[in-house]
Amino acid sequence: MTANFWHFAYIIAAFCTVLSIKWLNSPVTARRGVRAGEIGMLFAIIGTLLRHEVVTFEWIFAGFLLGAAIGAPLALKMPMTSVPQFTALSHAFGALAAALVGTAEYYRLGAHITAFTGAALVVETLLGYLTFTASVMAFGKLQELVPTRPMTYRGQNLVNLALLAAAAAIGVWVVTGAAPAWAFPAFSALALVFGVLLILPIGGGDMPTVIALLNSYAGMAAAAMGFALDNKLLIIAGALNAASGFILSVVMCKAMNRSFTNVLFGAFGQVAPGAAAKAAARPVRSATAEDAAEILSAARNVIIVPGYGMAVAQAQHKLRELTDQLVKRNVDVQFAIHPVAGRMPGHMNVLLAEADIPYDRLHEMDDINAEFAEADVALVIGANDVVNPAARHDKTSPIYGMPILDVDKARTVMVIKRSLNPGFAGIDNELYYHDNTLMLFGDAKAFVSEIVKALPVAAAA
Ligand code: TAP
Repeated sequence: MTANFWHFAYIIAAFCTVLSIKWLNSPVTARRGVRAGEIGMLFAIIGTLLRHEVVTFEWIFAGFLLGAAIGAPLALKMPMTSVPQFTALSHAFGALAAALVGTAEYYRLGAHITAFTGAALVVETLLGYLTFTASVMAFGKLQELVPTRPMTYRGQNLVNLALLAAAAAIGVWVVTGAAPAWAFPAFSALALVFGVLLILPIGGGDMPTVIALLNSYAGMAAAAMGFALDNKLLIIAGALNAASGFILSVVMCKAMNRSFTNVLFGAFGQVAPGAAAKAAARPVRSATAEDAAEILSAARNVIIVPGYGMAVAQAQHKLRELTDQLVKRNVDVQFAIHPVAGRMPGHMNVLLAEADIPYDRLHEMDDINAEFAEADVALVIGANDVVNPAARHDKTSPIYGMPILDVDKARTVMVIKRSLNPGFAGIDNELYYHDNTLMLFGDAKAFVSEIVKALPVAAAA
C-alpha cells in the first residue's frame, strides 16, 4: 500500500511543479502558482518519508527543525529588495544538499558503484559543490559583504578553465574506479574553489542573471542525483528547474542585449570614468513637487515608469496614492514595465502588486511603447538605464541595442531621482538634458509624497 502511495505522491508533486511554473508566469495567477509549488513540495516530502529506505526518523526530524529554524525567520524578515540575495542563499543550501547526498552515496556504494551511477554522482557533486560556493559568493556580493565590483586579473579565464578541466579529469578518473582515495576529496575541493573563482570577475549588478544560471546548475545537480538514486521525482523537478533557470537567464540577457559571455566574463557594472563629471558639466531643468503636481493634474494621460530607485525608496505605496488621486481627477494613468527594470525578474510587478496597483494598469514594454508619443506626461521614478535614448543610437554606449521605453517621445518627461548619478550600467543619461525633460531631485518616496500633498492645491487652481 505505502509502496504505491509514494509513487502516487510523486506523480502529484511533479504535476504540481509543472502547474506552479505555468501559473507563476503571470501576476494574475502567481499566488496560485506559489500554492501549487507548496502543495507539490508537501506531497514530495510525504512520499519520501513513506519510502521503505527510511531507517530512522530522528535525524530527519532534527534536520527539519534546523531547516525551519533558519528558513522561517529569514522568509518572514526578508525585505522585498533582498529577494535576489535570499534566492542565492536558498540555491546554496539546495546545491549543498545535493552535493552532500552525492558524497554520502559515493562512499556508501564504495567498490559496488557502477559506471553509470558513478558518472551521475560525479556530475551531481561537481555541480552541487560549485553551485554552493558560487551562490554563497553571489549572496555576499548582493549583500555587499564581498566587494561588488568585478575582481579581475590577467589570465583569469585561463586559470578558471584549467581548474574546471582538472576537476573534470579527476571526476572521469573517479568514474573508472581506478582512482586512489584522495581523488574524490580533491575533486570536491576543486569544485568548491571553482565556484568562488567563477563569481569573482562578475559585478554585483549582474548577480540576478548569474543566480538564474546557478538555479539552472542546481536543477541539473538535482536531476543527476535523481539518476544516481533512481528517483524519478528528482529527475523531473531537477530538469524543470534547470530548464526554467536557463530560459530565465537567456530572457534576462536578451532584454539587456548582452551575451552570456559578456555577463560571465565582461566585468560589467564599473562606473564609466568621468560619467559624473560629464553630467555635472551640462545644464538640466529641474522642478518642484508643486510644479509636478500642477502638470500631472492638468494632464489627460500619464504613463509611469518605475525602476530600481522606486524599489530602493520603497515608493510603491505612495505611488498607489498618487495614482488614486490622479484617477479621481479623471487622469488616465498607466504603468510601463521594462523587463529588466530593477534588479530581478518581475521586480516592478511584485512591488506594484504589493501596493495593490491593479494589474490591468501594468503594461509590458512592447505593448505600451507606441503610446508614449500620445502621452501628456511620462513620469519616470528611479529608472535610468531602461529609459536612456543612447541605447537606440549611440554605438559606443555599453547599452547600445538594449530595447528601451520610449519616454522621451512624451510631451513632458519628469524624472524623480536624487542626483544625476548613473544607474547600473554606469553611464550618463542624455534624457536628462532634453528640452522636454524636468528633473525632480529627491528620494522617490519623499518626492511622490510631496506631489500627493500638493495635488489638492493644484486641482483647486
Ligand atoms: P538603474 O539604471 O540602475 O537606475 C536606478 C536609478 O535609481 C539610479 O540612477 C539612482 O539615481 C536612482 N535611485 C536610487 N535610489 C533612489 C531613491 N531612493 N530615490 C530615487 N531614485 C533613486 O535602474 P533601471 O532603470 O531600473 O535599470 C535596471 C538596470 O539593472 C539595467 O541596466 C538592467 O540591465 C540591470 N539589471 C537588471 C536586472 C533585472 S532582472 N531586473 C538584472 C541584472 C541587471 P540616484 O542615485 O541619482 O538617485
